Amino acid sequence: MSDPVTMWHREHMRFARLLDFVEKEMSEFHFGGQSDYELMREAVHYLQHYASRFHHPREDVAFERMVERYPDKRVAIARLQQEHRVIEVAGNDLLNYLDSILEDTVVPRDKVEAAAATYLVYYRHHLATEEAEILPLAAELLTPEDWAAVVAAVPAGPDPLFGSDISARYRDLHAQISRGA
Ligand SMILES: [Fe+2]
Ligand SMILES: [Fe+2]
Repeated sequence: MSDPVTMWHREHMRFARLLDFVEKEMSEFHFGGQSDYELMREAVHYLQHYASRFHHPREDVAFERMVERYPDKRVAIARLQQEHRVIEVAGNDLLNYLDSILEDTVVPRDKVEAAAATYLVYYRHHLATEEAEILPLAAELLTPEDWAAVVAAVPAGPDPLFGSDISARYRDLHAQISRGA
């Protein structure tokens, strides 16, 4: 099994691929092309459900342990924890707009674009900060006991999109993402 920081990094790369996909579809949307709302919705759905159920709660435990060992990082880490909440809200807004479009409700285009832009900017900035500032420090500071606590933060569940058993709802998205890789 890979070390925890590598696995952490790998999840970020997967999230980044989904964000790239959403951005590509949103630019189709902007220029009046054919965006795949269904797949875009599934990408945001995965990010909102998988990341917010597994990834962020584990990070929250890692962050707390890091602050105990390195209080200088308190402010930077508090900001990242705040971003988890902002990402959650922005992602839910975007998900609701995509649901409305799929239900044929009229949604103002600029509202959808603004929600997507907010989500993409926040999420990418968040990932970049964690990659640059947090993962290297976590590799230094956290002990095997800390990592056990991180994993124990949420009971392990199979990854429904990138795991070995892809759930039915994400099959098309998985095919699309694999093609784009
Ligand atoms: Fe995070
Ligand atoms: Fe993260």
